[in-house]
Amino acid sequence: TGVDPLGLITAAQAGGYAVGAFNMHNPETTQALIRAAERADAPVFLQVGRAIVPHMGLRAAYEMTRRELDASGLQAPIHLDHGTYDEVFQAIRLGFDSIMFDGAHLDFEENIRVTAEVVRVAHAFGIPVEAELGRIPDAADDIPWEEYYTRVDEAERFVAETGVDLLAISAGVMHGVTGVEPRPLDIERIRAIRDAVGIPLVLHGASGVPADQLHAAIEAGVHKLNADTDLRHAFRRGIEEVWSRGDRQFEEAVSEGRERMIEATVQKMREYGCADRGSA
Ligand code: G3H
Ligand code: 13P
Ligand code: ZN
Ligand code: NA
Repeated sequence: TGVDPLGLITAAQAGGYAVGAFNMHNPETTQALIRAAERADAPVFLQVGRAIVPHMGLRAAYEMTRRELDASGLQAPIHLDHGTYDEVFQAIRLGFDSIMFDGAHLDFEENIRVTAEVVRVAHAFGIPVEAELGRIPDAADDIPWEEYYTRVDEAERFVAETGVDLLAISAGVMHGVTGVEPRPLDIERIRAIRDAVGIPLVLHGASGVPADQLHAAIEAGVHKLNADTDLRHAFRRGIEEVWSRGDRQFEEAVSEGRERMIEATVQKMREYGCADRGSA
């Protein structure tokens, strides 16, 4: 395809904003992200993530996304989010435009070794690689936060030895949203990692993080923001609102969910600064 995923990130770096990367869960949520990018005139990464893969399988998720993209006028990279070792090679064969290999559960030396292998293969196919260092906790985890944070010295070695294109870091974010006030991002750490590695950074778990902190993170070197939960909640509110008014058609409820998700995604694109930058 004609998309250049890294080009979108480089443009974000030059323009001082971040590109939104959002997860699909079915055809309607895929349509919501595509229509949001069209409505906001924004670049977007369409992410095949941890939820949809067990739901429909990697191949079906990829083919569904490609079909929806082809049916639209939009150009956007289809990105594998939190890929396992087996999934990244399958994704390369399927035609994904961009991949993330998530080796954060491996010990440091093993993460370097396996990530470097993934990068060699992906780059041979012209596919950029995002990797993760440090661990991004789930909202439900009760964990010693600072121990999960990405270390500056490790990040420097990791990027130099693996050749990754994008680095996902841990600095206060979590996957999901809790009722409680999230802890502030460690902006100084993000800046120090950026200065040490010299490649664009990725912040996962952007749902639930206040806009001013996201703006500080962008200023400190983050140019891809991953969000899922807030958009899923918007979809759910649309469905629930229709059904709470009585027994409506399934399609009527899902259409309302899709519209709510479009609106929530456009809102995030404005917040991230990528609205009105032109889609891929
Ligand atoms: O086709 C891809 C294989 O799964 C690659 O595995 O890294 O062990 O060569 P490998
Ligand atoms: P949230 O659900 O917290 O937005 O995280 C999404 C994410 O990081 C996907 O990789
Ligand atoms: Zn994530
Ligand atoms: Na989050």
